[in-house]
Amino acid sequence: MEVLLVFEDLLIKSHKGKYAVKFTSDWERTVNSYDLKTTKFIIDENISNLYQDELLSILSKRNHLLINANEENKSLDKFPKYIQSLVDLGLKRGHTLVAIGGGITQDIACFLATTMFRGLEWIFIPTTLLAQSDSCIGSKSSINSGNIKNILGTFTPPKEIILDVTFLNTLEDKDIYSGIGEMIKVHAINSVESFDNINDSYDELLVNKNIMESFIRNSLLFKKKLIEIDEFDLGPRNVMNYGHSFGHAIETATNYKIPHGIAITIGMDMANYVSFVLGKTTEKHFSRMHSVLNKNSSLFRDTYIDPELLLNALAKDKKNTSDQLRLILPNLEGEITIDLYDRSPLLEQAVHSYCAEYHN
Ligand SMILES: NC(=O)c1ccc[n+]([C@@H]2O[C@H](COP(=O)([O-])OP(=O)(O)OC[C@H]3O[C@@H](n4cnc5c(N)ncnc54)[C@H](O)[C@@H]3O)[C@@H](O)[C@H]2O)c1
Ligand SMILES: [Zn+2]
Repeated sequence: MEVLLVFEDLLIKSHKGKYAVKFTSDWERTVNSYDLKTTKFIIDENISNLYQDELLSILSKRNHLLINANEENKSLDKFPKYIQSLVDLGLKRGHTLVAIGGGITQDIACFLATTMFRGLEWIFIPTTLLAQSDSCIGSKSSINSGNIKNILGTFTPPKEIILDVTFLNTLEDKDIYSGIGEMIKVHAINSVESFDNINDSYDELLVNKNIMESFIRNSLLFKKKLIEIDEFDLGPRNVMNYGHSFGHAIETATNYKIPHGIAITIGMDMANYVSFVLGKTTEKHFSRMHSVLNKNSSLFRDTYIDPELLLNALAKDKKNTSDQLRLILPNLEGEITIDLYDRSPLLEQAVHSYCAEYHN
């Protein structure tokens, strides 16, 4: 069996004080140490099935709310049911919520912790790669309302994060690639060298948990730099949306058939291509990133992306001004920068030719 290294905790500064990401290979011990009288659990249904033995003492006490992790279940209209369940479990002011799951479970728990009893402490045990390498820090919750995705949200960091990569052993491949998409993103934002680093180790990441964990930690370190100077996403943190204007438009155009981090992977490649066609970056920078991005999205290579649907969704992005698109593209040095661009025929043509070449 692979011997797991122990990585040092990471401390994140926030408006609520410092909180730690604790790296462990023994999450069950921590979870089973919580005082069941003052702790209620919010657990992803797949996790409660896959890890019944480890969670036995919690599940048998009926001290938990189960979440079937899909986008409908993080809609505002589902919240009265969650609130009723937690109140029925005996949740009171001063208690702690512990969330065990991926980004969806995190969003639900964070929103409830911010609003119930005007604020509860919460602890997060991320179980997907996306949640471990990206969403677990940064304080945000994002909740859907009707058809409008992520329109509601709050900023409340957890008290601590317990990060155990052994959860990744049961994660489906598509969710591994989805998480790697966000890891590639933050490495590319950090520097050209950081991207080259993860690019060079891509194949090893998939087979070696220690290498995976060290890149998870680096991803969090790079994100930490941005959220500590701009926790509320008013300026410098915006660059974390690299690949997201195109990625969200891809998600809309494909009716959410592609997992988030894989749509972001394709979104980065498209952003790089558009930047190259507009003359903002060089072909070298597009090609430098293309092969790993293409590899990371290969499970969805055959998914058709309608360029017109994509361009319509792109035009509706809430970050645009009334007549320009706000895009995050690589510059001539390969650095990731934010700027305003006209919705020009050249830009539209670039999106059409990208879709025709890679997702027709
Ligand atoms: N709040 C934030 O900062 C933030 C940031 C990024 C994304 N998000 C949100 O996160 C969501 C996506 O998160 P996600 O990719 O973590 O997905 P998720 O929570 O939907 O989980 C993906 C799937 O993996 C299953 N799963 C979770 N852990 C598992 C494990 N260890 N083994 C086997 N199966 C497991 C889940 O049941 C689910 O079916 C989106 O709703 C997105 O909007 C939030
Ligand atoms: Zn994302």
